[in-house]
Amino acid sequence: MTTAIRDDFRSDTVTRPSAGMRAAMASAEVGDDVFGDDPTVHRLEAAVAERLGKAAGVFMASGTQSNLAALMAHCGRGDEYIAGMDAHCYAHEQGGAAWLGSIQPQPVPHQPDGTLALDDIEAAIKEDDPHLARTRLLAIENTFGGRVMPMSWISDATALARRHRLGTHLDGARVFNAAVAGNLDVAQIARPFDTISVCLSKGLGAPIGTVLVGEPDLVAKARRSRKALGGGLRQVGIIAAAGLYALDHNIDRLAEDHANARRLAEGFARIPALSVTPPDTNIVWVRVAPEHSKGYTDFLAAEGFGITGGYGKAQQRWVTHLDVDRAAVERAIAAAERYFMSAG
Ligand SMILES: Cc1ncc(COP(=O)(O)O)c(C=O)c1O
Repeated sequence: MTTAIRDDFRSDTVTRPSAGMRAAMASAEVGDDVFGDDPTVHRLEAAVAERLGKAAGVFMASGTQSNLAALMAHCGRGDEYIAGMDAHCYAHEQGGAAWLGSIQPQPVPHQPDGTLALDDIEAAIKEDDPHLARTRLLAIENTFGGRVMPMSWISDATALARRHRLGTHLDGARVFNAAVAGNLDVAQIARPFDTISVCLSKGLGAPIGTVLVGEPDLVAKARRSRKALGGGLRQVGIIAAAGLYALDHNIDRLAEDHANARRLAEGFARIPALSVTPPDTNIVWVRVAPEHSKGYTDFLAAEGFGITGGYGKAQQRWVTHLDVDRAAVERAIAAAERYFMSAG
């Protein structure tokens, strides 16, 4: 029998809506959003666009739908987008850009800090030649695996893209984590991008929802593709209300998640069999000495800890969020100390 998860560090998507959020959802004013009639959705779209400093926004069912609709807004059939080899929109969305959007991905390798080398980006941009796909877009992710991408790099990479007349898209599923960690206005991070996808259901605690913001013509195109992608939802103000609640209540507190991640990393780093990457935000990556990998993974599961990337994977991933508090972090550290004390 498997033990139920008590302390769930698998992802910041596992949060359950709070009582306040549920109350906001229950009292949401709604209408049919496919007819453009839902006032709460309008408020959410405008609120996210305003925070990100963009002119327009469109509510999406998920980050995957939002990234795909954005790629389809920037690229036509047979066009190409450049993204990191491990970027979510390339590596973790079933290749939807290719099989649903008829868009060819051009992945480039990541540098150790998660960025893409400017030379690699430039080398991947195709000249106008009938043998080659037309490169249309550079897609960047921030945070990337929990790491905050340097603003100077973002600025250089997006300037390079513009010099080559490429569009720019930011997968900002966790862009508020980047803003809080860097003590920046999120609009500053968003400024160089034509489109930004922002998830409300990751660290921000909403049950569902992403908003794609950007230039009005691109957002209008994405709204059109959204319908074909099954994202034309009806009285979805009930969900948008959760997003508005998340914006009002759950952004500044991301600093707590980051502090909890730092505490977790510090505690684990004292154990010689664990090699820990100091976190920028709420995601802690841990390598376990191979001889302990299976035993420790099984132990954590038996003790009720949920993580991803256990035995057989290169690293464990521990994610802090609204529903794991400091006590859960201390339990995890104490459990690790107990295990490795007895494992010798
Ligand atoms: C960086 C990033 N982008 C996009 C997504 C996709 O979001 P969703 O799961 O809502 O489709 C995720 C999901 O975890 C993500 O981590």
